[in-house]
Amino acid sequence: MMLTRLVRPRLAQFCGLTTTKLAQKDYSSFVGKDFATLKDFDSNEIQQFLWTANDLKTRIKKDGELFQPLRGKSIGLIFQKRSTRTRVSTETGMGLLGGQSVFLGASDVHIGVGEDLHDSAKVLSSMFDVLLARVFGHDIIETLAASSSVPVINGLSDTYHPLQILADLLTLQEHFGQLKGLKLSWVGDGNNITHSLMIACAKLGMEMRIATPKDFEPNEDVIKYCDKVASKTGSVLHYTNDPKEAVDQANVIITDTWVSMGQEEEKEMRLKLFADYVVNDELVKGAASDWVFMHCLPRYKFEVTDSVFHSKNSIVFPEAENRKWTVMAVMLHLLQDYHPVYPKPKFGF
Ligand code: CP
Ligand code: NVA
Repeated sequence: MMLTRLVRPRLAQFCGLTTTKLAQKDYSSFVGKDFATLKDFDSNEIQQFLWTANDLKTRIKKDGELFQPLRGKSIGLIFQKRSTRTRVSTETGMGLLGGQSVFLGASDVHIGVGEDLHDSAKVLSSMFDVLLARVFGHDIIETLAASSSVPVINGLSDTYHPLQILADLLTLQEHFGQLKGLKLSWVGDGNNITHSLMIACAKLGMEMRIATPKDFEPNEDVIKYCDKVASKTGSVLHYTNDPKEAVDQANVIITDTWVSMGQEEEKEMRLKLFADYVVNDELVKGAASDWVFMHCLPRYKFEVTDSVFHSKNSIVFPEAENRKWTVMAVMLHLLQDYHPVYPKPKFGF
């Protein structure tokens, strides 16, 4: 549902405000908007999702409040690929907010098999209030968004995984007390998670050093886009083939599988080419003394040793839990305006 251009002016007209005046408020309306990539959101808007996620976590988990603003709403979950966290966080999160979800697995529905995607999107958006899709090509997200009359959330495409990065940022904010000034290092494949993290760092003005094997660097268009954004925000994005250079004095070391979903046939070749990119005790010696390890999961034993993955510096499980509070913030904001009850956490920007 590509409604940004439509909804904002309409809402502004309704409120008797111009879009400029709306943008000057301390929070934005995302109602009717798609959540396809973080490119579509600026620094304040990314912080707003994190603020709401923190607020929902505090109200519902800490205070035990029953808060069900999405009663009567439903989300359709289109999954062309496997998932544990994205599926479960969305289903349980929607339930907590009072709504319901329907899982549409690849072998259960006609989507992408037989029925035209535009037709499926029209039908589904006549029955659901919001859709979430996990797909192969990112163009599938774009087609769904273009043909759907309700917002579409990207639950991972081959190119982006924006929901994961909201969870990562929330986890870092909780752990370090702010985001500004953190040095992030990425070691491994230049993949969908790398791209979304790069976009977030560029928008927020953060530093990220990315070490990948040669020929597995991030997508060139994403690099160009991020470098352009970074030149305005003061973000530092550095690309290297040397993991030690990336990890040097880093506060955060992040990796992901070397074989993403859809790349299974390349597994043998990738395991050989990525052999020097294991996150192990030797590599983390070069990090800052307060380093933490993150991984979107599922983790395979190739890319990180047990000694790091299960160390006291690993924050992978709080990171996984935060998938729930962040997707709840996204669903809530796309369906209705919401201003958090609790103060904005300190991000440092
Ligand atoms: N991190 C993540 O998206 O996990 P799932 O594949 O289990 O959804
Ligand atoms: N890069 C991985 C992320 C899984 C959550 C993949 O796309 O399979």
